[in-house]
Amino acid sequence: MKVAIIGGGGLVGSCAGYALQLGGIVSEIRMLDVAAELVKGQALDLLHGSPFVADQRIGSGGYELIGDSDLICITAGLRRKPDESRLDLINRNVALFLEILKNVKAAGLRPDAILLIVSNPVDVLTYLAATTLGLPARQVIGLGTTLDSSRFRSLIAEALKLPPTQVTALILGEHGDSMVPIWSAAQAAGLPLEKYPGWSTHLGEELFQRTKGSGAEVIKLKGGAGFAVGVAIAEVIHAVALDRKRILPVASLLQGVYGIRDVCLSVPTVVGRSGVEQTLEIELWPKELAALQHSAHVLRETIDTVLRSHPSAQAAPAGLGKPVGPPPARSGSRVTMGLGGQAYGLSTQRQGGNGGR
Ligand SMILES: NC(=O)c1ccc[n+]([C@@H]2O[C@H](COP(=O)([O-])OP(=O)(O)OC[C@H]3O[C@@H](n4cnc5c(N)ncnc54)[C@H](O)[C@@H]3O)[C@@H](O)[C@H]2O)c1
Repeated sequence: MKVAIIGGGGLVGSCAGYALQLGGIVSEIRMLDVAAELVKGQALDLLHGSPFVADQRIGSGGYELIGDSDLICITAGLRRKPDESRLDLINRNVALFLEILKNVKAAGLRPDAILLIVSNPVDVLTYLAATTLGLPARQVIGLGTTLDSSRFRSLIAEALKLPPTQVTALILGEHGDSMVPIWSAAQAAGLPLEKYPGWSTHLGEELFQRTKGSGAEVIKLKGGAGFAVGVAIAEVIHAVALDRKRILPVASLLQGVYGIRDVCLSVPTVVGRSGVEQTLEIELWPKELAALQHSAHVLRETIDTVLRSHPSAQAAPAGLGKPVGPPPARSGSRVTMGLGGQAYGLSTQRQGGNGGR
């Protein structure tokens, strides 16, 4: 699989490139950035390490690299300032993002290309890509709450002295202030988290608040997130590359799941070679469902604001229906994220493998 990273010169893009290199699964890593020298340097640095890692083609260039790329990951953007909410970034980032989409479109995309949006505000930008690019919406994935869920799991594991890969906990909704912790499905090694020795509601709330503030915490400490978001990006790309059908909390254009329509946010999603293969409606506690629908309202309001100030982004497909409605009847089955043991690391997995690590 050939992967292009637009924004590859930056912290997130270069960490994603490095994570893809260590994964050794994709065949080609192509780095693009307006900062031409910087991205050339990032690609060269990766190339120099390749003999220790995997037989991948690594390089940099311009939009001519997009046409035959299988997956295009967009990390280009402006960083959030320490005291800025992700949604405040919108005014600074939407125009830049629309310009990138225009360039991607002009370069011509493979009909089966997958787009992975990482730049913030990720849910809003994913919506713009899904509705204006001309690709089927299922081929546009937003990183969504993948990183938030991983941060959440890591902090729970640290607090309870559990192995992080054995903690399964989900964050759904917006990658932002209205994100929703799904306590009803949280587990440690298959055991309900609420029954684990040392667990308390108070501790849970503390860990969730820290998770929510993790982006700002990291920005304050080191300027921006890199390693964790890099491995989160690689997790999604590997799910596509290996057609793994992994259930991940990524964002996509929702058309009725949990009664939510015409907005992009994260729900448990089956990710495979064709992108978003299924969105799952796991049973939630009523307050979780209400919080998820609130998240959808928050995002829809932001999308409306963006569409008003960027008329060129008004190409939403017809017949999408009401933004958020009442939830349809649910199956009642409890679906979890499995053991969550897919820790990403110095993997021995190589191209063509089955993804088991
Ligand atoms: N979704 C998530 O979970 C998540 C997590 C962390 C960061 N982010 C977002 O990722 C984005 C990048 O963050 P970063 O820390 O890497 O920032 P950065 O400043 O280090 O890198 C951004 C890169 O984008 C490039 N760029 C700017 N305009 C461009 C254009 N028109 N075409 C191509 N490249 C362009 C810049 O030259 C720069 O190299 C931000 O929007 C940030 O908020 C998202």
